[in-house]
Amino acid sequence: MLKIKCSNIFFTLFLMLILLLPLISNAASKWKSLADDGIHDPESPAIGVLQEPADALSKLPQDTSGNMVNWVKALEQGVINPRTNIRPETKVRIRNDDVFLEQTGEMPVVRFPHRAHTLWLDCKNCHEKYFISKKGANPITMMKILQGNYCGRCHGAVAFPLTECDRCHSVPRQKLEQAKAESRKKTQAENK
Ligand code: HEC
Ligand code: HEC
Ligand code: HEC
Repeated sequence: MLKIKCSNIFFTLFLMLILLLPLISNAASKWKSLADDGIHDPESPAIGVLQEPADALSKLPQDTSGNMVNWVKALEQGVINPRTNIRPETKVRIRNDDVFLEQTGEMPVVRFPHRAHTLWLDCKNCHEKYFISKKGANPITMMKILQGNYCGRCHGAVAFPLTECDRCHSVPRQKLEQAKAESRKKTQAENK
């Protein structure tokens, strides 16, 4: 009797494993393995030594585009803690305000968050060469972005792709004043 019960449990566990297998392998297959990413030499013995992207990246907050990691979340949640400076005298500068870019025609307004950028970048990466640090001073258009200027210097290259319209165009026009007020409050809290 006991024997049957035991084997029943094993059978159930086995069945669950079989059913879950596609889910597990699906989660891992969001990333190409090094051997077939078209960058690494599959013949190289180093393939066995390097960490697989799926192994490293699946532990981070997930995203639905680009390299499938929400890097801002990973940083804000403390899952990763990248070194902020190489030389001790480098001053790390964080800015918390949002800039609302409103020349978006029919599209929702663009909220540009300084904080999510200065956690990775220095002011000099953007000012004054790519963006004049004055609200409204930059004649940004979607065409120029798609050609690799302004936001397009990074988005589509090292940051989330330009196909993710609503991550930049995130503020419906009828909610603009509310979004500005919330942003001001948040900035004040973070500046404390
Ligand atoms: C990723 C690029 C980027 C980085 C990094 C960055 N900024 Fe900006 N900054 C912008 C953009 C885009 C605007 C909006 C410009 C516009 O409205 O045309 C802006 C606007 C500004 C403004 C004008 C804000 C206003 O409301 O008038 C100031 C001041 C400024 N930045 C200072 C800084 C400082 C100081 C740092 C570093 C701590 C910094 N920025 C880092 C892109 C950046
Ligand atoms: C990386 C951020 C970002 C992404 C992603 C993005 N946009 Fe934009 N978009 C902007 C900015 C910034 C402006 C200029 C706003 C300003 O100057 O006030 C803009 C302007 C526009 C405009 C106004 C007219 C024009 O040609 O400039 C339209 C329409 C537009 N975007 C559509 C889209 C669509 C559709 C997508 C997705 C396929 C998209 N955008 C993705 C940042 C982005
Ligand atoms: C110098 C590089 C650079 C430029 C220029 C740049 N970004 Fe980014 N942006 C990044 C990086 C890096 C991240 C973080 C990684 C990611 O989310 O892919 C990011 C993240 C973001 C986020 C996500 C914030 C979050 O909380 O998840 C938004 C929104 C955004 N950028 C909008 C813009 C807009 C709008 C512009 C142009 C006005 C712009 N960015 C210009 C590098 C840049």
